[in-house]
Formats: sequence, C-alpha cells, structure tokens
Amino acid sequence: MEQAAEWSLFCVDAGSAYCPCYLAESGECIACSLLRGEDFCQCSWSGTCSYLNQRWARGAVKSRQEEEVEVTRTELAPNLFCLELMLQAEMARELVNPGAFLLLRALELPPQAWVPVSVVEVRGEKVRVVVYVDGPKTRFLVKPASHLVVKGPFYNGVQGLAILKRVRDGLGLIIAGGVGQSTAASVAGQLLRGGNRVRACLAPGRAGLNYTADLLRALGVEVNEVSSLRREGLATLSQWLKEEPEVVFSGGPDALHRGVARVLQEQGAAAPLVTSQNAVMCCGEGLCGSCVVFTAKRRRVPRCKAQYQSEGR
Ligand SMILES: Cc1cc2nc3c(=O)[nH]c(=O)nc-3n(C[C@H](O)[C@H](O)[C@H](O)COP(=O)(O)OP(=O)(O)OC[C@H]3O[C@@H](n4cnc5c(N)ncnc54)[C@H](O)[C@@H]3O)c2cc1C
Ligand code: FES
Repeated sequence: MEQAAEWSLFCVDAGSAYCPCYLAESGECIACSLLRGEDFCQCSWSGTCSYLNQRWARGAVKSRQEEEVEVTRTELAPNLFCLELMLQAEMARELVNPGAFLLLRALELPPQAWVPVSVVEVRGEKVRVVVYVDGPKTRFLVKPASHLVVKGPFYNGVQGLAILKRVRDGLGLIIAGGVGQSTAASVAGQLLRGGNRVRACLAPGRAGLNYTADLLRALGVEVNEVSSLRREGLATLSQWLKEEPEVVFSGGPDALHRGVARVLQEQGAAAPLVTSQNAVMCCGEGLCGSCVVFTAKRRRVPRCKAQYQSEGR
C-alpha cells in the first residue's frame, strides 16, 4: 500500500522578533527538535537558532502588538470596502513582505472576532486592506465610525515563501481572483524586487471588481483582466506556460489552487506553485487550534505559522 507523504515543516516566525513563541515554551516548536524534547538537532534552518533564542529569552515571549487605529473606509463595490489604517511605523514597515496580513476586529467585539486580512499596499504609516463583507465579523469591520483594533504583523498568508524569495531574473505568473487579489499585490512586489518580469491574470470573483489592476500596472506588472478564472483564466495560464515561467502564484479559494495545479500538471510545467493561504485563523500564534491540521505521523501543523512541503512531492 502507498504510504501517505510526510511533510517538511518550516516556521514563518523562526529567527524573527517573534521567536521564541508560545509553541517553543510549550515544547511544540515547529522549527526545533530540541525544543520539542528530542535528543538531537534535526533542523536544516541556517538562520538564528530557535533553541538559543528560547534559552536566552528565559521564557519571555514577545507578543504581537495590538493597537486601536484610525481608519478611513471607502466602498469600492457592493459589500467590498477599502480600509486605510494608520499604523505605527515599526508595524507598517514589516507589512511589505509577501504574505503579510493583519488581524482586525471591531473594538466592541471579543478576541474570537479577529479577522485575518491581507495587506494590499503600504505607504509610510498608511496601510491599505480590502474587505469583502461575508458574515458577522467583517460586517462589524465596515460599520461607519466603529473603532478597530489591529494585531500584527503576521507573515504566513502565502504558502511557498522560500520559492518566491529565491526566484531571480525570470518570469512569474499570477492568477488571482476575488479578495485573493490582495495577496497578489505583495507577491508581485517580491517578484519584481527579484528582477523578474511579472504577468497577472485577474478576475473580479465575488468581490465584483479587479481592485488591484491599476496598482499592479503601476508597479510594472503586465495585467490581463478576465471575467472568470475558471472559464478564461486557466486557458490564459495554459498559453503563458509555454514561456516557461519560474513560478506560478494562485491567489483565491482552494478550488482555484486545484484548478491551477491541474493545468500545471497537464502541461508538464516545471514551475512550482505558490498559493494564498485559506485556513480559518483566529489567534495567528499557533495556539487556538482553528487552523490546525495533522500530518500522517500526527504532527500538529498550525497553518498560521507553518510553511510546509510534502516530502513525497
Ligand atoms: C491569511 C488570510 C488572509 C485573508 N485576507 C482577506 C482579505 O484581504 N480580505 C477579505 O475580505 N478576506 C480575507 N480573508 C478571509 C476573511 O478573513 C474571512 O472572510 C472572514 O474572517 C469572514 O468572517 P465573517 O464573520 O465575516 O464571516 P463568516 O460568516 O464567519 O464566514 C464566511 C466565510 O469566511 C470563512 N471564515 C470565517 N472566519 C474566518 C477566519 N477567522 N479566518 C479565515 N476564514 C474565516 C468561513 O470559513 C466562511 O467561508 C483572509 C483569510 C486568511 C486566512
Ligand atoms: S490561528 Fe490559532 S492556531 Fe492558527
């Protein structure tokens, strides 16, 4: 019988200001086998050592900042709002990284109401996000005059960050729809910083608007707008794959990621697939369990912190 593939796990926070975290304190560190109570170091991490970080910190964990912020709301389309947040400079600087997101909630709501929202654009201390009103938590975010609390920065809004960071001087393709476009903006920024040409195919999806088209064009991305990724976007991708891109990014629901993966397989494309992260998230710290899945060997994987790759792939 075929064995289920095991996963290689990396922690998005390893070596950052937020390492060690509560998982290191509780013996569940994603990166470090020693902190998980094993006898040998088994990590292939070449950055700052999580074990030494934890020893030096003597149990002190640097929590993410929470701040009440000023917000300006603009309705872009029915149920679609742009929120411009004024953040502290230190937090804003961290949000230009691909996959960066914030947790937002209305001040009057309890912590269970945190909403993960991807960063679209950072200009100095002004940070722009776009929210589609989907249910109770997002409805509170767009209520006129309601005060918002922000927690962050978080970095794991994209699976495949290491791939994005190593791709240089090639072609990167972006296929994104709905609010998946928000993640596409920071992915395009990273690819352009690596000297890559970037081409994006965007569809409005249920957001009803290609709200990142102008921003991407201004960054230097060649943008193709279609009405549906399923009907037209995947055919466009098939054509573009003939130019042998270095990487393909899919920004949208899991059904889109599966569609893009299928096209890559059918075309025998060598380009790795990087995707937006769609887990349900509430704490962003690996603690609350909302986003947790388990590997074949029953290892706990909080998707808010773990970058993973199937060893069988
Ligand atoms: C990393 C990340 C970045 C995201 N970025 C954006 C963004 O830029 N703009 C945007 O509009 N939306 C974004 N989302 C989705 C957004 O967080 C959910 O739509 C929102 O939490 C729904 O809450 P609700 O109470 O309004 O709706 P509900 O009625 O509770 O749920 C509506 C849908 O949202 C999903 N959902 C509910 N709670 C969460 C949660 N805590 N985390 C993730 N999904 C949830 C549900 O599974 C359901 O599919 C992002 C999600 C993640 C994980
Ligand atoms: S969001 Fe709480 S464990 Fe991932």
